[in-house]
Amino acid sequence: MNKIYILLPIFISLFSNLSFASSPKSSLISDYKYSNGINNTASLQRGAKYFVNYCMGCHSLKYMRFSALAKDIEVEEKLFFKNLVFTNKKIGETMEISMKPSDAELWFGAVPPDLSLIARSKGGDWVYSYLNTFYEDDDRPTGFNNLVYPNTAMPNILVSLQGSQKLVLDSYNNPVSFEKVSDGIYSEIKYQKMTNDITNFLTYVSEPAKLKRHSMGFWVLIFIFIFTIIAYYTKKEFWKDIK
Ligand code: HEC
Repeated sequence: MNKIYILLPIFISLFSNLSFASSPKSSLISDYKYSNGINNTASLQRGAKYFVNYCMGCHSLKYMRFSALAKDIEVEEKLFFKNLVFTNKKIGETMEISMKPSDAELWFGAVPPDLSLIARSKGGDWVYSYLNTFYEDDDRPTGFNNLVYPNTAMPNILVSLQGSQKLVLDSYNNPVSFEKVSDGIYSEIKYQKMTNDITNFLTYVSEPAKLKRHSMGFWVLIFIFIFTIIAYYTKKEFWKDIK
């Protein structure tokens, strides 16, 4: 009897997942999967460039230092400053912005949050979906709404690249697909690649130590492997005369 009570939450979560998966809304969202590649330095470099150009006007990364970023994405300091730092910041400073929260509130109706930890709190798939699922909505002050963050106050700032899209609903008002209204400068694939790079960059920012951990893990395993061989032969040598 006790066991059943223990298993009950598992069953409930299993069935709630099933019903979640079968709803059209979530199936449209689940089309948007980000492919993680924080060890892909080229992708992180592109992501950093996009972030500085398109996002940092509004969003800060207050836990990230320019110096740590330059080192991790392997960009020489001079080049880094030339391409990625547009203000009079110094290399040791964190990536904060000068927009006042009170002004932001006035302009957008919400303060653009710091994005240092967003990929950890909401996950890479969510961030990627957010950047891909803005759609036209005349009832919103910005003219756009978002599938994963309904009624978001953020303007659809990448619309010129992605192009504009409409949400198609079924007869039960469930979202089923997007329909292109106008083309953007980028092809669909190129836009997906771009937003994947941004998501990749934000995933790295949310846990920069992961990069080191990954590369260190490799060397730790090599060490254990070599040490095992040495230990084996040492043991053989020690026991040779005793047997
Ligand atoms: C013009 C200002 C502006 C720009 C530029 C901008 N955003 Fe935003 N963003 C906002 C605002 C305002 C919000 C808050 C939305 C809300 O809470 O309704 C927001 C929210 C977000 C969120 C959700 C945060 C959360 O806590 O749920 C993410 C993720 C995000 N932005 C990513 C980006 C990325 C990536 C870019 C660059 C491609 C970008 N934003 C560019 C204004 C901006």
